[in-house]
Amino acid sequence: MSDPGPSACVPGHVAIIMDGNGRWATLRGLPRSAGHRQGVEALRRTVRASREMGIGVLTLYSFSSENWARPASEVRFLLELLRRFIRTDVADLHQHNVRVIVIGDREGLDPSLRSMFEETEALTRNNTGLKLVIAFSYGSRQEITRAVQAIAAKVAEGKLAPQDITPALIGNHLDTAGLPEPDLLIRTGGEQRLSNFLLWQCAYTEFVFIPDYWPEFDAEHLSRAVDAFRQRDRRFGGIKAQTA
Ligand code: FPP
Repeated sequence: MSDPGPSACVPGHVAIIMDGNGRWATLRGLPRSAGHRQGVEALRRTVRASREMGIGVLTLYSFSSENWARPASEVRFLLELLRRFIRTDVADLHQHNVRVIVIGDREGLDPSLRSMFEETEALTRNNTGLKLVIAFSYGSRQEITRAVQAIAAKVAEGKLAPQDITPALIGNHLDTAGLPEPDLLIRTGGEQRLSNFLLWQCAYTEFVFIPDYWPEFDAEHLSRAVDAFRQRDRRFGGIKAQTA
């Protein structure tokens, strides 16, 4: 299928909380790792479908700041899955003009994983197609805290005055600086919460909650979520344009 290019009816930025890998596996009598493995397949399907639909930015919550508290064996498995994904998929993403961006806290990460992130971002930096944003070791409160610390340091150095601090300035200090805010946020797995994901950025985002588990997610799910998005009346706090 050829890329139809961006369309006015397609959300420019879709963010996804990929939830339910563990439950998908448990339901089938499989180890949780099998759910995560199938989760990568769903991720590949979703990237492909997003490219084909002409979505501009796809942000995926792949590992939260809070996920470090999971059993060490599961954390190890998820880290290895991410490394493997980068090793096996980045060349193909690059070939399809995808720009990969990683957000989250890189402090304390294994230096070799940090290098993988840096190399992937550098390789794909000039690509002009889909922006694939991988949120890894990401927590929105932590991200906002880092931004506040950076701004406070500039105020302390006299580079900024307190009255220079605006919502736009705060946005420019977040990991997502330069990216549009999500238009549509999808969460699979039946839970209806944000779980510390893009709290600042989702002020006017439309939410779609899907009961199916992430390993089941496919182009059809994405297309239905986009259809639901199209039905929404987005007013951004204003009122509908009046006809005279
Ligand atoms: C939530 O399911 C999913 C995660 C915590 C990890 C998401 C990871 C992937 C989809 C695959 C790896 C990602 C990359 C980028 C290669 P859960 O484990 O919380 O499921 P549960 O709520 O059913 O327990």
